[in-house]
Amino acid sequence: MTAFPGPADSGAGGRAGGRAGGRAGGRTGGRTGGRAGGRTGRVALITGGANGIGAAVARRLADEGVHVVLADVDEDHGRALAEELDGAFVRCDVREPADSARAVQTAVDRFGGLDLAFLNAGVASGFGLGDDFDPERHRRAMSINVDGVVYGVHAALPALRARGGGDIVATASMAGLTATPFDPVYGANKAAVVGLVRALGPAHLPDGIRVNALCPSFAETDIIIPMRDELERQGFPVLPLADVVEAFMAILDGDGAGEAWYVVPGRPSEPFRFRGVPGPR
Ligand SMILES: NC(=O)c1ccc[n+]([C@@H]2O[C@H](COP(=O)([O-])OP(=O)(O)OC[C@H]3O[C@@H](n4cnc5c(N)ncnc54)[C@H](O)[C@@H]3O)[C@@H](O)[C@H]2O)c1
Repeated sequence: MTAFPGPADSGAGGRAGGRAGGRAGGRTGGRTGGRAGGRTGRVALITGGANGIGAAVARRLADEGVHVVLADVDEDHGRALAEELDGAFVRCDVREPADSARAVQTAVDRFGGLDLAFLNAGVASGFGLGDDFDPERHRRAMSINVDGVVYGVHAALPALRARGGGDIVATASMAGLTATPFDPVYGANKAAVVGLVRALGPAHLPDGIRVNALCPSFAETDIIIPMRDELERQGFPVLPLADVVEAFMAILDGDGAGEAWYVVPGRPSEPFRFRGVPGPR
């Protein structure tokens, strides 16, 4: 396994996206942001909300008075957490566009609208493109990690517009910002999410909808179980979930769009600064 290089190894340059465009409609902290009078009463949809990062963010948002709708294929954990947080659970396989639409509708029906879509469901791939290639697992990973975000954005946009704006945060990964030889398809999936978010950021800012990406390094969830021994052998530090939640909240409290926020051990999270690409001469 190759350890992720830190952001300093990856080059620096201009901002990822539309901060220069300012906030649409004079928003000062986002519909779900913390500066404009708190988040109480806002409504958040969280895919992959039954476990791990999604569940930790759901707990934090619920603590701040946000109504949470957990959308997941894990019905047992999802329902139990929704009950604990006085939220709602909807069975949602993010590979199915109709499921994403139903998840958004659940937010509207149960809590009157949608202010935040946290498109976070994801899986590791765990194979290469040589003898170990597995076409079925490939389709599954592409579908959950990429299609799931595309369908989630498509489903959420009308509901966010109906509220006059809001936030979409997609969980990409540091795997989308650096090379991941141990799981190339996962790296491709997460780079696709980063590319999608960078494109959507400026496109939807005029509607008051901020689209950003959360890019954690290895964090303490079930997804890293197959890698845990190797991470320990390398002495690679694993992020506590609290650090990922803090980065997520910092995205909400920010004012950027089209940004990819790295979350790595031992340094504050911020938007990754992409190098400028060469233009025509
Ligand atoms: N933990 C890490 O090290 C790490 C690092 C970077 C990025 N991520 C990303 O964070 C996100 C959350 O993962 P996690 O670490 O919390 O892992 P996790 O396995 O704890 O949670 C993933 C959740 O997604 C759900 N899910 C899986 N397939 C689904 C589907 N088809 N439809 C709906 N829900 C589905 C699972 O049931 C689970 O609740 C993923 O996108 C993952 O790629 C994780």
